[in-house]
Amino acid sequence: MLYNRTKNIMNNKIGVIFDLDGVIVDTAKYHFLAWKNLADALGFEFTKKHNELLKGVSRVRSLDILLSIGNVKLSEEKKQEFLVCKNKEYLEFIKKMNSSEILPGALELLNTLDALGIKYVLGSASKNAPLILKQVGLFNRFAGIVDGNSVSKAKPDPEVFLIGAEKLNLQPEQCIVFEDAIAGIEAANTANMISIGVGDKETLEKADFHFESLTEVTANFIKELVKRVS
Ligand code: BG6
Ligand code: MG
Repeated sequence: MLYNRTKNIMNNKIGVIFDLDGVIVDTAKYHFLAWKNLADALGFEFTKKHNELLKGVSRVRSLDILLSIGNVKLSEEKKQEFLVCKNKEYLEFIKKMNSSEILPGALELLNTLDALGIKYVLGSASKNAPLILKQVGLFNRFAGIVDGNSVSKAKPDPEVFLIGAEKLNLQPEQCIVFEDAIAGIEAANTANMISIGVGDKETLEKADFHFESLTEVTANFIKELVKRVS
């Protein structure tokens, strides 16, 4: 057992954990439409700026944030009803997704990692992650999937990424995380992983590295990280 583990670490110096929403695909626009419909029904305004607060946050927590924006209090029963309703609407958008919605640079980065023999898994807060990956034709590319169904604590808790490291058979320090949300960067940092922010630099200031888009991530950058971890 110990021998196998040591051997794995020697062979795979590094592994990658990808967030899904906002890194591989842009689903925030669909979450926005579905949450906005709920806010409209409850009679308050929900803007794109408000939607930023929900990035990387679990579905249940998102509803609580939304309700606090509208200053609305609901029973647990009603909340459950709205959560089901919101997800139904969201899924209508997801079912229409295809590979054209993969974000620029994502496919190229997966190809680069394959070429370098570096394994990658998904580490997402979304309970819909497997369906989304299937829709865009990427489900079989990942060595493992950790999603909102596999965790008991949501980001910024590091649980999702620590399970990801286990799936990669690596120590946390050997994992690099691509994330677009503050909660995700915090989770990666707490897990003692290398955090890479994708998106707005100011928002993701706590990330170890930052790129505006995955199109900027080169094979050389990945090779440098492998050296750094060795
Ligand atoms: C995250 C999104 O990836 O997943 C959040 O950034 C979303 O906005 C969360 O709330 C949960 O998603 P789902 O698909 O389970 O409702
Ligand atoms: Mg995200």
